Amino acid sequence: MPGRFSRRNFARLAGLAGFSMVSPAAAKDSRTSAANEKSAPASFPDGFVWGTATSAYQIEGAVHEDGRGPSIWDTFSHTPGKIDDNTNADRANDHYHRYKEDVGLIKQLGAKAYRFSIAWPRVFPNGDGAPNPKGLDFYNRLIDELLARGIEPYATLYHWDLPQSLQDRVGGWRSSDTSKAFGDYSGYVTERLSDRVRNFFTINECGRFLNFGYGWGIDAPGLKLPTGELNQARHNVVLGHGFAVQAIRAHARAGTRVGLAENIAACVPAIDTPEHVRAAEIAMRELNSGVLGVILEGKYTEGYLDYAGKDAPKFNAEELMIIGSKIDFVGLNIYTPQCYIEPKDKGAGFHILPFPASFPHMQSKWLLIAPETAYWAPRLTAKIWNVDTIYISENGTSSDDKIAADGKVYDLDRIMYLRNYLMQLQRAIADGAPVRGYFLWSLMDNFEWIWGFEQRFGLYHVDFQTLERLPKLSAEFYRNVIATNAVSS
Ligand code: NOJ
Repeated sequence: MPGRFSRRNFARLAGLAGFSMVSPAAAKDSRTSAANEKSAPASFPDGFVWGTATSAYQIEGAVHEDGRGPSIWDTFSHTPGKIDDNTNADRANDHYHRYKEDVGLIKQLGAKAYRFSIAWPRVFPNGDGAPNPKGLDFYNRLIDELLARGIEPYATLYHWDLPQSLQDRVGGWRSSDTSKAFGDYSGYVTERLSDRVRNFFTINECGRFLNFGYGWGIDAPGLKLPTGELNQARHNVVLGHGFAVQAIRAHARAGTRVGLAENIAACVPAIDTPEHVRAAEIAMRELNSGVLGVILEGKYTEGYLDYAGKDAPKFNAEELMIIGSKIDFVGLNIYTPQCYIEPKDKGAGFHILPFPASFPHMQSKWLLIAPETAYWAPRLTAKIWNVDTIYISENGTSSDDKIAADGKVYDLDRIMYLRNYLMQLQRAIADGAPVRGYFLWSLMDNFEWIWGFEQRFGLYHVDFQTLERLPKLSAEFYRNVIATNAVSS
């Protein structure tokens, strides 16, 4: 490769400058590496969709503007003691006013796609009833700006910011009235945006917001429901997804594609043997039956219903049909595995292994480092449910990003993390996993829910006083991945 700054070139240049610069050991090393040329970078398929992702509440701010109604996250973040650093997202990144600048940041990365979410309470301040056209106008402006700059919009309809009014009046996702309202909202939005947006995600991470928000009480709306009621809320959420799919088919332009973005409970075979892989496959189907499984199979597994016993959700055949409405793609949010699996002769056929306390993690303690998740999650998803189109709808990491004395952010741990996950993703695709695109979480630092602004996931550093955006070294790393359509180890 002309101009490549290889070790061989370095040795040659150093040699010209004087023998004293190269020790005998280094000279020997340079001969060895000359013989072992670097392997080719791992390429992604032509047309692979490279993007970044954000969500409305985490970046928009402007919570009282243009008729937006309150959401459960406004209420929750304003409740003392709920957010680690006592912040809220009233202003956040002020993206509502700075969206043009932010689209410019995406452009600088060379990314071809952007996944953002639409705030339901901007469009229907009360969740249902009268729409607020001014709220939708913001997304019209954003979408037009993206398209003008050659970036394809991928819109998520629900990223956790439920209109507070629905929580107050019907109990939020505890009631199927919310499922119906979500269907109506989805039909309204997609009818108006699908002339320019071709891909919609219905719901983001059912698994997280249900368990955290309705089970453990640590996310909005802060409920600790008994298991039976939590399972019913989960059923109402997947029913809402189903209503949304049907409404999109009925109201959006023909050819509009719809899927969801799920933090799948990723089961990784502890060892790559056929028996371990088979056990991981069984485990992944069972552990995801409550959301992805019922959506893709139109039924809950017997294992799921047996395990729930008297706490199983109440449902009828028509609801299962709605939930199982055909979707066009599956979005997987990949961060960390749910568990490692080994085979077991008895019972369900798998054994969930405990994590040793020394298992490494990124800055966020929950973010265990397991790049092979990016290999097994798409492969097993495709196999178990016969899925032919997968997007990695999120992948990324927090990092202790500080601005160095020279004004730059050297987020080497993020680069290490991304490189290793992307290498595994490339391997999955090479082995046949139908992954068509990747959305890096996140474009810029933002409001990381219960952790406030303390955990930074962005490719761009944000100073939350001045709101200045600054590219981190990882932005340059990702720009290179996109430009070369490849990643090298
Ligand atoms: C998944 C969520 O969708 C997103 O909102 C969150 O910021 C990232 N994970 C990082 O925790």
